[in-house]
Formats: sequence, structure tokens, C-alpha cells
Amino acid sequence: MADILDIAKRRGFFWQSSLIHGGIAGFYDYAHLGTAMKRKWENLWREFFIGLDENFYEIEPSVVMPENVFKASGHLKHFVDPVVKCKKCGTPERADHIMESFLGESFEGLTAEELTKLIKKHNVKCPKCKGSLEKAGVFNMLFPLNVGAGKSVAKAYLTGETAQGVYVNFKLEFDALRRKLPMGIAVIGKAFRNEISPRNAIIRMREFNQAELQIFFDPDTITEHPRFKEIQNYKLLIRPVKNKKSGKVNEILCKDVVSKMKLPKFYVYYMAKAQQFYLDILQIPKKKFRFRELSEEERAFYNKYHFDVEIDLDTLGGFREVAGIHYRTDHDLKGHQEVSGEKMVVNLDGKNILCHVLELSFGVDRNIYALMDISFREEKNRTVLSFPGPVTPIDVGIFPLVNKDRLPEKALEIKNILRGSGLSIFYDDSGSIGRRYRRMDEAGTGLCITIDHQTLKDKTVTVRDRDTMKQIRVKIDKLEKAIKDLIGNDIKFEKAGKPIKPKTSKAS
Ligand code: GLY
Repeated sequence: MADILDIAKRRGFFWQSSLIHGGIAGFYDYAHLGTAMKRKWENLWREFFIGLDENFYEIEPSVVMPENVFKASGHLKHFVDPVVKCKKCGTPERADHIMESFLGESFEGLTAEELTKLIKKHNVKCPKCKGSLEKAGVFNMLFPLNVGAGKSVAKAYLTGETAQGVYVNFKLEFDALRRKLPMGIAVIGKAFRNEISPRNAIIRMREFNQAELQIFFDPDTITEHPRFKEIQNYKLLIRPVKNKKSGKVNEILCKDVVSKMKLPKFYVYYMAKAQQFYLDILQIPKKKFRFRELSEEERAFYNKYHFDVEIDLDTLGGFREVAGIHYRTDHDLKGHQEVSGEKMVVNLDGKNILCHVLELSFGVDRNIYALMDISFREEKNRTVLSFPGPVTPIDVGIFPLVNKDRLPEKALEIKNILRGSGLSIFYDDSGSIGRRYRRMDEAGTGLCITIDHQTLKDKTVTVRDRDTMKQIRVKIDKLEKAIKDLIGNDIKFEKAGKPIKPKTSKAS
């Protein structure tokens, strides 16, 4: 993890926020590379998930919401973490995390009472000072706000999930979108949780980014999906609750997930789509991906079915949650109806329906971290982030071989030609060519283009592949197509131009 944090800071992916003032734990800023990568991830997500149905749309709700929203959603009551304080040094810690580091297994979902018993039984001490621990209690994670001044001050909270911004808009959107079901409303935005112990950099932050799609549907149709046939023979990678001890991942056909695991087709269809997003779009290796079925105690308080998407991360010692597929039933709309007094039931063709919700919830920052973890490679002479083409922050680096002989002018000319094609480009004319390649390797840039004296003679450039360090010579007028084919994985590197041998290993 230290290596990832080092490269993140050195190259400009992310770093702790307000660092010059000491920062606050759990708040991070995306720097130029991280921002570019996050935008690409979000656009891939948007295109893939909102593209799944013609009645799926994106909105941008406010993150500040009145207290009643969270009474209705249950967050005021249930959105709590078990916390335990040290009697000696007073440090508060997540009680389940203390147990996890003590016994090496997850204790998520256990109540404060259960954790207090375990702490006693195993005689667990404060990880900081080895002092005795108090009884575990609960701590609400919502960030409270006082909005306005004087008598008109209103009690509000920063939202703990983007989902609530969708539920409060359900009726307005349903009418504006011409009253059709299923209706999908997505938000890519911020959420806030006052974590007791934020940790692992951008994996567990207090302010974080979510990409969530809420699909509203008639519960009577949950056993069907009009496109289920397309995925019925697609195999899902699932670690069911019964395999908790062994950790074994079963490969199960979607149709068998329905018949044997008794999950409804509507839910399984979206599990398949989430897996395809990871394996086909983000190109996560199959062996690093799994759905983890959550037991009743582990499930979020609003979920009836709950499978997390997990990716195996070397730097965090195993599979970690990056997304979740949640069947939230009518929990949210019913709650908002009760507390607000606004009718959430809709009438379609004479039938009164209180919609159920299937939620696809993704932690954007965790996904960015996971891609960095999976792509990180240390070789003899270099460190490389081998990002899949669609998420590389920079598509191409462009360098004049030397800073003279009209090579910079030619390089800038080529940069301008390519810029119009929508590619993200980094121009660099400082330092040796070998150093410039190394910098791009650490930024994860897939291709580097070098303009040399031969370019002026025959209108060709050198294109270097990040992962193999192989080089080819490509004609300038074929360059844009070659780059796009290579980023899209449509062509083998050697076939995109004329292979050449690097002059020195140092410059490769
Ligand atoms: N909206 C689901 C979650 O925040 O986990």
C-alpha cells in the first residue's frame, strides 16, 4: 500500500486534502491524473449502466437533506457503527475492526452487545496503548448540519448515500418521465459518513464518491426480466454464504442461480450486467473478481438480497468490496411516504403499485484504488501502472527526442492534430527520453510517441508500448487510427506499424 500511496502522491493521482494545514483523516483530493481517471471510470459506468434500458436516466440531487429524509430512510436509527473506547487513552475505535485485526476474520454486522462479549472473551486490549476497553456502544455516521441562522435554523444532514437523493425525487421523475416502469435513476456524486476510523486512504473516507442506479419496478414482475434469455447461460462467480469458511468461488449459470439459489431473474440479470462491467469493460482478471453473498447479519438494514462485488487486492490482503447489488424492497418509498405524508403509490393501468427498488451501488474511489492495485508492477528498472486502455488517465505521451532541430515544433504539431480526436495527451520535452518513458510508466500511460530526426524525413514517429516496451514506427497520417485501435484492444501492437528494435535498453 505504501508503494501505491507513494506513486499516487509523486505522480498526481490523489493525496490527503488540505495537507499544508495538516489535513483531516478521511478526506482526500484527487490530483490531475486521479481526476482524469475518475472521469473516465464514471463515463464508462454511465454509458454501460444507463445504457441498459431506455427508461434509465441520471440526475444530480443536493447532498444537504432535511432531518426527516433520514427519519424516513432509517439512517437516524440504524446508520450506526459499533464503537469502543479505551479506558486509558480514550481513543475510540470500530469494535468490529478491533476484533477483525485481533482474530483475522470479519465481524461486520455484529451488534455492540455481541462485540462487547467477544472483546471480554478474548481479552482484547486497545491497539494503541494496550489499555482495557470500555463496553461497545453505537455511533451514528451522518454528518449533522445547522442550515441558516437564528430562529429559522433548520436541522439537516449531509447525505450518507446518493440513493436518498433519488427516492425523494421518485414521484416527480415518475411523472416527468411519462409514468413508465421499470424506471432507473442514477446519481454519480458525493456521500458523507463520519467514520470512526477512516483507513486505507481512499478505500474508507469520510467524504467519498458513489455511482448508484436505483431501479424502481413493480414487485409482481421481479421473477422476470425481458432480456434474461441473453444471460441465462452466462456464468456468475459467486462465493455463497455456505462457502464462508473455505472462501471457494462457484461458477454458476445465471439460470441455475435462479433455480438453485432461489434468486429472482430481475435481480440476477443485473448481477450479470455488473459482472460484465468488471470483466469486459474494466478488464478485471476473472480470478480477481467475485460476488460475496452477505449473511442476514452482514446485510445493510434496508436489504432483502445483498451481494457485494469484491476484487482481490494484494495491497489489502484479499477480496475487498467495491460495489453492491441491493434489493431494497419498498423500504425507502414506504418510509418516505409515512414520514412526508406524500403518496408514493402510483397507479398504472388501474393497478396501485408501491414500487420496489433494486439498487446497483458502486464506490467510485474504491474502484479507482482497485485498478491501481491490480495494475501496479515493479520491474527491475521501472515501476509500471498497467491500466486497462479505457481507464488510463493519459492516452498518449508525446515527446520530441531532443529539445532542438525543430523537433519540439513538429511534436507540438502532432499533439495538436491528435488533440482534436478526443485523446488525452501529455507533452513532455524535459529530461532524457528514458526518464520521460519512466514517468509515463508510473502514470500508466499506455503509449508514448517520440518525434525524432527521421520524422522530419519520412513523416513517421516511434510508438512505444508501456507494457512490453516494444516499439513500432507509424506514419503520422495513420497515427490517430493506430492509437485508437490499440487503446480499444482491436489490434496487436506489432500489427499497428513497422516493428523496430529500441536503440538502447536505457531509452526503452
Ligand atoms: N446506497 C447504498 C450504499 O450506500 O451502500
